[in-house]
Amino acid sequence: MSEPLTLGVLASGRGSNFQSIIDSIESGALNARIAVLITDNPGAYALERAAKHNIEALIIRPRDFPDKDAYYSHIAGELGKRGVELVILAGFMRVVGKALIEKYPNRIMNIHPALLPSFPGLHGQKQAVDYGVKISGCTVHFVDEGVDTGPVIIQAAVPVYHDDTEETLSERILREEHRIFPEAIRLYAEGRISVEGRKVIIAGRGRD
Ligand code: GAR
Repeated sequence: MSEPLTLGVLASGRGSNFQSIIDSIESGALNARIAVLITDNPGAYALERAAKHNIEALIIRPRDFPDKDAYYSHIAGELGKRGVELVILAGFMRVVGKALIEKYPNRIMNIHPALLPSFPGLHGQKQAVDYGVKISGCTVHFVDEGVDTGPVIIQAAVPVYHDDTEETLSERILREEHRIFPEAIRLYAEGRISVEGRKVIIAGRGRD
């Protein structure tokens, strides 16, 4: 088997997506290792998950830096020092700065709880419920300088019912998030993902 892919994970909160990646690695489904968890939130439950799995964790807060550039340059430096090859945004609730994107072009993946380009930004699930769509879902995409605008890697759809609340829809979408995020990382680790303009091509998956 080839060398495991080195990941750096950024998370702001609960970290259930972070956990799904840990679980995929531990079960052998994903040939990767997590070099570091970085959070902007000292109260993030993701920190406890990292401790439990002996993953190094850093709390890096924007308020300790003069500006966004300095903040993301510092994060990029910490990731670089640890040999991180792919950056994973697992519920990282900030718009990532240029300094990090330029260091990791098409090497930062984000999970978003809606079918992009619908309902970008915060509260994708609530936006879907409020709009009254019948189908929503989640998207794994590469990160560019826009808000949830980068090339789409994988999407999964779920039904939206008339009596759904933000909570019930979030739960249904989350189950799919936990499936497709590790899957997208696995495809990347296997060298099967390439990007042409806005399009992501997955080798060995139909019509290529
Ligand atoms: C997930 O639903 C993720 O899609 C969403 O935050 C949640 C984090 O949950 N991300 C965004 O809304 C990004 N704009 P988790 O901390 O349990 O993984």
